[in-house]
Amino acid sequence: MYRTRTCGELRLTDVDQVVTLSGWVQKIRKMGGMTFVDLRDRYGVTQLVFNQEVDAELCEKANKLGREFVIQAIGTVKERSSKNANIATGEIEIIVSQLNILNASDVPPFTIEDETDGGDDIRMQYRYLDLRRNPVRANLELRHKMAFETRRYLDQQNFLEVETPILIKSTPEGARDFVVPSRMNPGQFYALPQSPQLFKQLLMVSGFDRYFQIAKCFRDEDLRADRQPEFTQIDCEMSFVEQEDVLNIFEGMAKHLFKTIKGVELKGDFPRMPYSDAMKYYGSDKPDIRFDMKFVELKDLTEGKNFVVFDRVEYVGGICAKGCASYTRKQIDELTDFVKRPQIGAKGLIYVKCEADGSFKSSVDKFYTADDLKKWAERCGAQPGDLILILPGEKTKAQKQLCELRLEMGSRLGLRDKNVFAPLWVIDFPLFEWDEESQRFFAMHHPFTSPKPEDIQFLDSDPGKVRANAYDMVINGVELGGGSIRIHDSKLQKKMFELLGFTDEQAQSQFGFLMDAFKYGAPPHGGLAFGLDRFVSLFAGLDSIRDCIAFPKNNSGRDVMNDAPAPIDPAQLEELNLILNIKEQK
Ligand code: AMO
Repeated sequence: MYRTRTCGELRLTDVDQVVTLSGWVQKIRKMGGMTFVDLRDRYGVTQLVFNQEVDAELCEKANKLGREFVIQAIGTVKERSSKNANIATGEIEIIVSQLNILNASDVPPFTIEDETDGGDDIRMQYRYLDLRRNPVRANLELRHKMAFETRRYLDQQNFLEVETPILIKSTPEGARDFVVPSRMNPGQFYALPQSPQLFKQLLMVSGFDRYFQIAKCFRDEDLRADRQPEFTQIDCEMSFVEQEDVLNIFEGMAKHLFKTIKGVELKGDFPRMPYSDAMKYYGSDKPDIRFDMKFVELKDLTEGKNFVVFDRVEYVGGICAKGCASYTRKQIDELTDFVKRPQIGAKGLIYVKCEADGSFKSSVDKFYTADDLKKWAERCGAQPGDLILILPGEKTKAQKQLCELRLEMGSRLGLRDKNVFAPLWVIDFPLFEWDEESQRFFAMHHPFTSPKPEDIQFLDSDPGKVRANAYDMVINGVELGGGSIRIHDSKLQKKMFELLGFTDEQAQSQFGFLMDAFKYGAPPHGGLAFGLDRFVSLFAGLDSIRDCIAFPKNNSGRDVMNDAPAPIDPAQLEELNLILNIKEQK
């Protein structure tokens, strides 16, 4: 037997027991005639003790151990004279009587401790060593528990987990597909699924009225902290439901996870916010409502006073930062630099300080009287001591910039506590999004999303006005999941493809199987998908979803550990009937 107990479980109640432990050498300390070895496994660390005077040969063997050696130790549990309150096994130690080296180890390239000396790149390259560290392992344990509780909840609600294929057909909407050449079908390619969307809808036609799957999804898109090229969805679909039914079930799922995993009771119904309000008050379809600081529109109050910057623009929006009138020149400059960053793109920042004595100090007081500024302050709900920050511009651009500024102020003021959770549903998304570049509409969610029945009348006359039966669950400014009620009528689906600019032939060749399926009794249905990686990151308080994925990709989509992607053998290319034509990289 390699081990009778783990390195995390022995306590004072086990004293005098003879145990066998196996694990990795975390640390070796020599003190006088004694050698102490910290032995680590997945469950914890236990101190092993070797005494020169009792068994010189054994102690000598221990002295030769190196960091990360894999060893087996047999010994007796004893109470420690100097206890370590920082670890669960800190009251005991093992007086070792037998030591077996199971495997030696090279010196690892970074220290395998909670606080490591290894930078990001090296830890990615040796990810299997990084995974030995407590914080990383804890994230994977959390991920396991969340997946487990998700399955438990959905099983209790009668959902059936069904696997859908990974090699599927490429479809033109959405992000870019990853494609896989088919050897048996020369010149033809599979795509990896961006989500199981069409399959889950087909399962509804098949009568599986409650489906879910913890599914791998693949999207070839630019990466960010909350995006990986392969990620995992908790993908769900239900038949005979309306939006209300779907929101109830999945609000229940979120509450179940918060309760069972985090011990947090989310009371009451999640608030619901129409997309139009989310944009108007927060400049984002995933507002962080842990704090208020809503946008206030000031355009009408600022007009006609010869300040051309405000006169010329479509939109002037402000936010009120409570208690920040005391901001120094330097702090205001920092905020100005922040909004002028290329990724935010504002030209400048205008402020009004509401001084304690009721006066105002502003970067535009040349143009505006105290009375004018008072009106702004009143509209912003600003009190003496508050600071109003204002950005002008084209409406959607300025709102996006103001959104970034609001989040920055929220962080500066400590209003974005990772242990506070503020969930909401964003609903009533527009069905379409206009794309200037290609001069056409795109489906904001996907082409299978149903318009709100009352807006169907505008489909021809004013498609931009049509709202969708679509919803996102947002927590703390993170879009955790999203979905919609689907079109289940083949005629309406055909119309939708038409509006998206597909010819009949294109629609038939891309999505014919779905429209055909809809001819054979498709039930009304709808669903949603959560990003499991994002859910785990939220619970673990991570800044990047990479940290809860065992083997993630870096920002260029590379797995630096096994060096993928990589060229393939010419013989493999030949077999796949592929010839490379690589353009020079600029
Ligand atoms: P959507 O595209 O909104 O919807 O994706 C659902 C959820 O998946 C997560 N997600 C990602 N997570 C990590 N990396 C990515 N690149 C990434 N892309 C998306 C997000 C997101 O909310 N089929 C529809 C769902 C439906 O309509 O039922 C879909 O895929 O958390």
